[in-house]
Amino acid sequence: MAVVTGGGVGIGGAIARLFAEHGAIVEIVEVDPDRAAAAVEAIEAIGGTARAHVVDVTSDAEVEDLRVAVVGEHGRVDVLVNNVGDYRPLVRFHESTSESWQAMYSTNLEHVFRVTRAFLGPMVDGGGGSIVNVHSVEGMRGFPGEPVYAAMKAAVAHFTTSLAAGYGRKGIRVNGIGPDLTQTPQVDYLSGGAGHDHLWEAWAPVGRLGWPEDQARVALFLASDMSSFVTGHNVPVDGGTLAGGGWFFSPEAGRFVNRPTGL
Ligand SMILES: NC(=O)c1ccc[n+]([C@@H]2O[C@H](COP(=O)([O-])OP(=O)(O)OC[C@H]3O[C@@H](n4cnc5c(N)ncnc54)[C@H](O)[C@@H]3O)[C@@H](O)[C@H]2O)c1
Repeated sequence: MAVVTGGGVGIGGAIARLFAEHGAIVEIVEVDPDRAAAAVEAIEAIGGTARAHVVDVTSDAEVEDLRVAVVGEHGRVDVLVNNVGDYRPLVRFHESTSESWQAMYSTNLEHVFRVTRAFLGPMVDGGGGSIVNVHSVEGMRGFPGEPVYAAMKAAVAHFTTSLAAGYGRKGIRVNGIGPDLTQTPQVDYLSGGAGHDHLWEAWAPVGRLGWPEDQARVALFLASDMSSFVTGHNVPVDGGTLAGGGWFFSPEAGRFVNRPTGL
């Protein structure tokens, strides 16, 4: 049984579907009722089992109700994926406010604490489990566009490492994935991208756009017993952008350059 936050669309949606394809009963936690219902329908259409919980993970009361509903139904929790997060609105740091910092905290970090706390006890009581935190490659490198967002994502990655160290003996594994360049409703690379296909060679070492399923396969590995001796790690799932940071393939030059001119 797996709980997936933000499981309606995008990366969370793909994780929910792939987990269901592999036999998990998926508890989809989603603030948007239409997305929640459509996600359950898509899973049932492929013969899987899922339930929708229309929940805002930024609310203590709603997450407590969720805990009661899920634990009441199953008696235990095997897998938790904390996937909700958003980089918007992008605020230049010199224009940021206490409110904008709080919003980044609420959307990207605080709910990871809240939802993890809700399900960690039932996981421990049930003999163990696996937690996968979806953060961002921007938590693993400098992100000039929104340093507060990047700091929240880095905090999720470090929470992952620290929680893993603390709960391994209780049978809990905790790992993270750091997406980049993945087509979703939030990060829509395809709109307005007409005529840019040839540039993926320069933008990503693997030479292509990423898809939610690219993230989901790594989440499945980390959630499952396939990774039973892996805990406390954060995997960039980024088509190589972190590894190749600062280097771009130039079709004109036929080699990697660190100062592309053909942009
Ligand atoms: N797509 C990328 O390239 C990319 C890159 C870096 C990091 N990420 C991270 O990956 C995760 C998923 O991103 P995505 O692009 O699939 O996002 P998305 O916005 O396309 O999907 C997120 C889902 O979460 C739901 N949601 C939002 N707020 C919620 C709340 N408070 N409670 C419950 N559900 C809520 C949304 O309705 C939506 O269904 C996020 O943490 C994001 O920061 C994505």
